[in-house]
Amino acid sequence: MKEQLQAIRQQALSAVTGTQSTADLETVRVQYLGKKGELTSLLKQMGKLTPEERPVMGQLANEVRAEVESAIEAQSAVLAGKALTEKLEAETLDVSIPGKVLHVGHKHPMYTVLDEIKEIFINMGFEIMDGPEIEQEAYNFTKLNTPADHPAREWSDTFYLDSESKTLLRTQTSPMQIRAMETYGVPIRMISPGRVYRKDEVDATHSPMFHQIEGLVVDKGITMADLKGTLNAVIREIYGLGTVTRFRPHHFPFTEPSCEMDIQCHKCGGVGCPTCKGEGWIEVLGAGMVHPKVLRNCGVDPDVYSGFAFGFGLERLAMGQFKISDLRLIFENDIRFLEQF
Ligand code: DAH
Repeated sequence: MKEQLQAIRQQALSAVTGTQSTADLETVRVQYLGKKGELTSLLKQMGKLTPEERPVMGQLANEVRAEVESAIEAQSAVLAGKALTEKLEAETLDVSIPGKVLHVGHKHPMYTVLDEIKEIFINMGFEIMDGPEIEQEAYNFTKLNTPADHPAREWSDTFYLDSESKTLLRTQTSPMQIRAMETYGVPIRMISPGRVYRKDEVDATHSPMFHQIEGLVVDKGITMADLKGTLNAVIREIYGLGTVTRFRPHHFPFTEPSCEMDIQCHKCGGVGCPTCKGEGWIEVLGAGMVHPKVLRNCGVDPDVYSGFAFGFGLERLAMGQFKISDLRLIFENDIRFLEQF
């Protein structure tokens, strides 16, 4: 048995020092010291020895085990050091290689304007609401007091999605007046920005898709004075305190009376120039007192409640703010254009 132990020691030690990886080392450990390992198997035969031999062999076996264990520990440290060196060599960093330029994006000019407007209205106690771009005819037209024979309902003006003209891509954000009152009731103070669609040919001032911001205020005792006061305050936040405004009578089916709001041309001060097309004034929005029929369509009693509504085009506002001359630039997403803002 002594010779066998000596042989195991020899083989184990040379196997340990010959390993090239921690996985190899573990295999060797199991092979000699594991539960079914060679040393363990040999020790199981101790019973066959004489009582005098047993303690001598036991001690020798313990020495062999201790020697092999410490050799494994030492080899483990050697292998770890080797692995680290290899890793460091593989990961060599060449600091002289030019870096990659990362393009950091920023807000689109139209969203810059939208966020500014939202901020203004939120500060005045308005809520922001989101509405569907695919709309029912009833919400886009009928409930907004726009009867079946109204020209806005023409096939040539509207993207219908079915042959019965029941669903369509909304032509305006005004259906959100109805949805807001139906869902939340009155009193209410909200704006609803979003995309709208019309069968327009693309040119410098038209696009089949553009953005509007709808606004609605309904409460007891709301008058035209509230409409003018609110919209004047908003426009002066956007265009500056000294901005001169005017309200012109107009017609919209869902408001009565209706008006359009103009600002005096900031370029020429009202004299007339190319920016205002010689008018001296620039139209900024449509508005009016919510028509009693519209209130009634939403289950609101017009003898108790009144309100005003308004709608404006977001692209037009952004174009004015950033002096953008062609609407198409806003949608083309040409980085050379967008980077200027
Ligand atoms: N929906 C109208 C349009 O697309 C804009 C508008 C005008 C909205 C008057 C309103 C309003 O809420 O009161 O031309």
